[in-house]
Amino acid sequence: MTRGSLRIALVAAATAVSACAGSPDGVRGPNWLTAEQRRHLSALSPGQLPAPPADPTNRYSDDARAAALGKKFFFDTRFSGPLLDEANNGVSGTLGLQGETEKVACAGCHVPQSGFLDSRSPRRQISLGSSWTRRRAPSLLTVAQAQILNWDGRRDTAFSQPFTPIEDPLEFNSSRLFVAQQIARLYRDEYEAIFGQLPNLDAYGAVDPSQAGCDELPGDVPHGTCVKPGYDDDEVTRVVVNMGKAIQAYTRRIECGASRFDRWMGGDEHALTTEEQWGAVIFVGKGACDSCHAGPFLTDQKFHNVGLHPDFAFFIPVFDDPGASEGLAAMRADPLNSKGGFSDGYDGRQERYPITSAMLGAFRTPSLRCVSRRPSFMHTGQFRSLDDVVIFFNRGGDADGFLGVSENHPRGLTDEERAELVAFLRALDGDGPDPELVVPPELPPDPPQ
Ligand code: HEC
Ligand code: HEC
Repeated sequence: MTRGSLRIALVAAATAVSACAGSPDGVRGPNWLTAEQRRHLSALSPGQLPAPPADPTNRYSDDARAAALGKKFFFDTRFSGPLLDEANNGVSGTLGLQGETEKVACAGCHVPQSGFLDSRSPRRQISLGSSWTRRRAPSLLTVAQAQILNWDGRRDTAFSQPFTPIEDPLEFNSSRLFVAQQIARLYRDEYEAIFGQLPNLDAYGAVDPSQAGCDELPGDVPHGTCVKPGYDDDEVTRVVVNMGKAIQAYTRRIECGASRFDRWMGGDEHALTTEEQWGAVIFVGKGACDSCHAGPFLTDQKFHNVGLHPDFAFFIPVFDDPGASEGLAAMRADPLNSKGGFSDGYDGRQERYPITSAMLGAFRTPSLRCVSRRPSFMHTGQFRSLDDVVIFFNRGGDADGFLGVSENHPRGLTDEERAELVAFLRALDGDGPDPELVVPPELPPDPPQ
């Protein structure tokens, strides 16, 4: 069926069900859709976007004081060790010079003003912390909707997520002991008011920032890390867990917000152009995008192999990324997971993510809310535009060059249909988080030596 004849057929179908058919292009509500299309699109736009589900793993997750402290932790660079990679040469997009310490914060790779994604690193694909990360930093807008985190499911508790950047020589290049000592030095009162008394860490001696992490990049990146004193001390770990619980209380509040698409579904006839309306129809029809980008946040929160041949497009070596088969296994073995002693409760979340053969080369479906603001796409950051992503899905993914078995299939969209689909994706932008959450907080000064 050609584009024109499809349009005529759909308008004819709509005429049969809707009195609004025939209104001028671009000024019409969703009434012209078939009942089937409307059913699919309503699942993506249920009237009001659901609030984050309760998280029993963190009893502080809705504590306002914890959120205020978590915001400071999120912006504070003083938990990070030395920058290891010579790519840190002080020019635009780097956080400092090789060898400098205390330069990396969460906000350095999840830039609040840019929708909590990395708009800062050179090339804006993967992130440059202490060195280059191996995957792209996802946006944290709507992160509270996810129980299983990361592209590969490596974490099932938001409170444990900071351990990755802190102990990764590519990110903070730091250690939990150094972080716990910095909290004791800079945040003692605020921490203790919420979480109770800090442990006495004097026995370890004060860690100098230059000694916080690795001295040089480990050979077996991305898995290498340096074993540091305190890594197996539950009292030290507990302090960083509580830091994570505070940060979660903060990140839980950041959202993309309702979009023009939602306003259109809600009856605002002017909210979407004709092109965007056709894109919505393709998204749930010929594109079959909502089989994975399902529900109000346009993600099923599951892992799929879409047949992506990794291509980093610059000097970082391409590696065979096993995705969720490795990530979910590591999550299950992690003492910091939702079944472990640092979790405040367990809600059966792990059982919803069995490790099957389909998890090899599978990555978590990203939310498409606020998608147009991302400077690059996919876990590799290899696509630079939404057009490129849609071209990729339209051809059914790549033929080879990835682990596992792809679920993708060719879609046969015309150039016009592809453009309509991209226009729809752009209509998923929201107003962004409450500006209060974005403004940098005042951080406690360094105490006199
Ligand atoms: C050097 C860059 C960098 C820094 C610094 C950093 N992150 Fe990330 N973040 C990433 C990358 C890359 C990923 C994706 C990792 C993966 O999936 O393998 C990620 C993933 C996440 C996720 C999972 C999001 C999702 O939807 O799955 C959360 C939450 C997160 N980071 C929070 C934080 C917090 C909190 C901090 C500070 C303690 C932080 N990040 C510091 C780069 C960074
Ligand atoms: C089989 C499940 C599945 C289907 C069907 C699917 N996607 Fe995806 N989509 C994913 C997964 C998984 C990723 C991340 C893959 C990766 O990074 O390796 C993704 C990534 C994306 C991204 C990039 C987002 C980002 O932050 O990097 C966009 C945009 C996107 N999909 C749009 C679409 C559109 C449009 C369609 C329909 C033509 C579609 N997807 C169909 C699962 C799916």
